[in-house]
Amino acid sequence: MKIDIISVLPELLDSPLSHSIMKRAQEKGLLEVQVHPLRKWAINQHGQIDDYQYGGGAGMVMMCEPLANAIEELQKDGAYDEIIYMTPDGGTFNQRTANGLSLKDRLLIICGHYKGIDQRIRDKYVTLEISIGDFVLSGGELAAAVVIDAIGRILPGVLNDETSALFDSFQDNLLAPPVYTRPAEFMGMKIPEILLSGDPKKIDDWRYEQSIIRTKERRPDLLTDSDL
Ligand code: ADE
Repeated sequence: MKIDIISVLPELLDSPLSHSIMKRAQEKGLLEVQVHPLRKWAINQHGQIDDYQYGGGAGMVMMCEPLANAIEELQKDGAYDEIIYMTPDGGTFNQRTANGLSLKDRLLIICGHYKGIDQRIRDKYVTLEISIGDFVLSGGELAAAVVIDAIGRILPGVLNDETSALFDSFQDNLLAPPVYTRPAEFMGMKIPEILLSGDPKKIDDWRYEQSIIRTKERRPDLLTDSDL
């Protein structure tokens, strides 16, 4: 998968994408991420990419020309499956969206700043608008890093233990069950006996049951569409 990102502050994306699982995905050639500084397409030698908003009001708006020129140029290397705009007024990101995006070949992510991007760019080019939650960040870069991390780690071949992503919280709209490691007793607290039974079927059933209990307690809203 190839992901291009258009950003005013490319440095913000350096660290989140160059460690751990994201690093492995890129080293294995399963994921290629390229960050493009929007200022490369600035309209003048002052590096201008934003301007005052029509109608007045505080805050600058990212201009049409630099973004349109950037998108048109990047598209010459191949059409995008989705052109994504990171924005607090987009649809809320979840595991289902991550799963869907992980099946695509080429994505372009536009990171907003200031008051956001001119509406005409959204209307003409953007195919998917994503929010990572009901709060406002100072720019779309950290939100884009969240989305790329969620997609990158489920690309086939990225995780060593191929099955482990299947048991993540939210994979079946269920929260993950509790987990334990050594020692079997800590401060007088014992791990559930069944985990020492050596019976994989019983352990799977127990984990599934725990997932349902935990989801009912903490996120009953996730269960409304199912009959669990
Ligand atoms: N840009 C600013 N806030 C954001 C959010 N919550 N989600 C996505 N992009 C954003």
